Order: sequence, then C-alpha cells, then structure tokens
Amino acid sequence: MKAIVLRTIGEPETLRLEDVPDPVPTAGQVVVRLRAAALNHRDLFICRGQYAGIRFPTILGSDGVGEIAGVGPGVTGVRPGDAVIINPSLDWGDDLRIEGSEFRILGLPDNGTFAEMVAVPAENVSPCPQGLSAEEAAALPLAGMTAYRAVATRGRVQRGETVLVTGIGGGVATFALLIARHAGARVLVTSGSDAKLERARALGAEGGFNYQTSDWVKAAKAATGGAGPDLIIDGAGGAVFDQAMDALRPGGRVVTYGGTLGPVPELVVRRVFWKQLDIHGTKMGSPEDFRGMLALFGEKGLRPVVDRVFPLAEAGQALAHMAQRSQFGKIALRIA
Ligand SMILES: NC(=O)c1ccc[n+]([C@@H]2O[C@H](COP(=O)([O-])OP(=O)(O)OC[C@H]3O[C@@H](n4cnc5c(N)ncnc54)[C@H](OP(=O)(O)O)[C@@H]3O)[C@@H](O)[C@H]2O)c1
Repeated sequence: MKAIVLRTIGEPETLRLEDVPDPVPTAGQVVVRLRAAALNHRDLFICRGQYAGIRFPTILGSDGVGEIAGVGPGVTGVRPGDAVIINPSLDWGDDLRIEGSEFRILGLPDNGTFAEMVAVPAENVSPCPQGLSAEEAAALPLAGMTAYRAVATRGRVQRGETVLVTGIGGGVATFALLIARHAGARVLVTSGSDAKLERARALGAEGGFNYQTSDWVKAAKAATGGAGPDLIIDGAGGAVFDQAMDALRPGGRVVTYGGTLGPVPELVVRRVFWKQLDIHGTKMGSPEDFRGMLALFGEKGLRPVVDRVFPLAEAGQALAHMAQRSQFGKIALRIA
C-alpha cells in the first residue's frame, strides 16, 4: 500500500508518499481500507520533533474512515465491507475519568491513517455516521471527541451559560463551538482573524474578539455585563491561559486541552483562589466520550467544519497549511 511515512524530523513539506507492506490484522484487530483521513496539530508537532516518544519509521495520522478490508482471529461483530469510523484513543481502559497505562493515540507509536490501510483494534471501530461525506466523517474522531469531553464531560456545560472558546480557527475549537451551541449555551470566541470571527458567527457564535487587534479579556467581560464567561475552553495555552483566569467570572471554570503557544509565562495564582476558579485538564476521550460525540453528528445532526481537502500524496502541503494557521476547522485528506 501507499503511506506517508515519517523517517526524520523536519518541515512537513518533505513528507512523501511511499510504498510499504500492507498491514496484517493480528488477534482482535481489523484492517480498514481508508477513504479519508484528517489532520490534527499533533501530526505537525510530531513532524517537527515537538512531541514525546517519537520513533521512526511511523505512519502519521489519527483520524480515518473507510471499509473493513480484513479481520484478525477472534474478531466478531464486524465484517469485511462494513463502513467504519476509527476511535483513535487506543486502550483507554476501564476508568472513564482517566486513561490506563496502556493508552496510546493512533498515529504514534502505532502506525496511523495517512495511508491506504491501517490496522486497529476491532473495539476501536464503529459504524460510520450517515449523511456526511467521507472527509466530513474523517474530521470527527480526535478533535470532535476532545471537544466533546472538554465541553460536556469535563466542562459540564449547562443550557444558558456563556462559554468562550479561544482560537476558533482550530480544529478542536470549531467542534467546541458546535457542541456548546447544541447544549444551549451562548458562545463567544476569539481569533487572530476577523474573517474567522465572521465564520464563527455564521456557526452560531454570538460574539467574537480579535486577540491581535483588541483586548479580548476586556471585550469578553463587556459582553457578559462585566462578569465574564462561565466556562472557557482553551487550547492555546501560553499567556492566553493566564488571561483566561482574568476573563472568567468568579466561580467560573476553564477546561484546558492544549498548549499550542507553549508554557504559561506567568500565572497570577491570586486570581484562581480569590475568584474561586476551577481548572480542568482534559485529554482525548473515553469510549463513552467517543459515543457521545458521534451521537451528535450526521443525519439530522451537526456537521463538522472542513476547511480544505488535499489528496493523500499532499499530506505535507496540508500540514504546511495548518502551520500557517490559515485554516478554519479541519483539514482532511482524500484517499483514493
Ligand atoms: N488534550 C488533547 O487530547 C488534545 C486533543 C487535540 C488537540 N490538542 C492540542 O490542542 C491544540 C489545538 O489543536 P488543533 O488540532 O485544534 O490545532 P489547530 O487546528 O492547528 O488550531 C490551532 C489554533 O490555535 C489558535 N491560536 C493560535 N494563537 C492563538 C492565540 N494567541 N490565542 C488564541 N488562539 C490562538 C489559532 O486560532 P485562530 O486561527 O482562530 O487565531 C489556531 O487555529 C494543540 O496544541 C494540540 O496539540 C490536545
């Protein structure tokens, strides 16, 4: 089969499609012939050597949909030809609150979905949601599940609350907006681009603030009668995380799912205890989070936001597009 194989650290444009052996399903596994995959910031971090546990060669990619091409010994309930979506949380374990010691994310160390085929545990495939294109369905797994866990499971969003999502152009962020709106929350967003703020409004955001050209903390407080949002969903990290503590209303909560901007330069701890804030971390999701997310999308439900579709062979250019922060939503790969 053909696959995008990471063999060295470097800029993503150097990635090439290669011929590699077809995966063979071991006990409990299935092989999926992929129709579409999608990118996550993780793939870019791995390419650039900014991720723990990198090993070579590795086939990148956590998101994918396709048809079952083969089943390993002991697999029941799935048949060749079934259309499936892959849950990239491998071996989450039994505790819904925290992953177990065997937990891995598909696409490092296990070979991932930027390929014509991938081998995954049979328990990680579900029927593909109806009513979505292959690229839309492929956009769902990692980012949709992360956003679902952030907003619903960890953030415990309530109808009528005000939720602020930072960096709305991001893949996870667009899902957080859709899921919070679906739960009946009022949603505010930030972005470095006015055009992205406009697109967020079209998806139901009530207000948007450009973090490059305005004081988003002040603007978020003004938009909430001076109090601040009830819940902030943040994947930017860096100084933005501390600003979120300033923006939140007393008794508010933040869910952090990422640190795109790196470490927090300074955290004013006084704000956290004086305002009695709750800080929640979140990672990927349990099988229950995956099911909860899937139930929201597809026929008569929500549609993910797909920014652009590239052919598999252009995965490197697709990652470069992500590196330029020019996307709004998910970047997908079409696999012939
Ligand atoms: N915890 C987990 O399980 C988990 C799961 C998925 C992702 N993540 C992490 O979450 C982060 C986002 O992932 P992704 O795949 O959604 O990435 P992505 O699609 O590349 O989005 C990154 C976004 O960061 C935003 N951003 C950049 N500078 C910002 C700033 N100063 N203030 C606010 N936002 C800023 C940008 O939004 P604008 O373009 O709108 O300015 C950009 O679109 C990454 O760090 C990733 O590793 C963690």
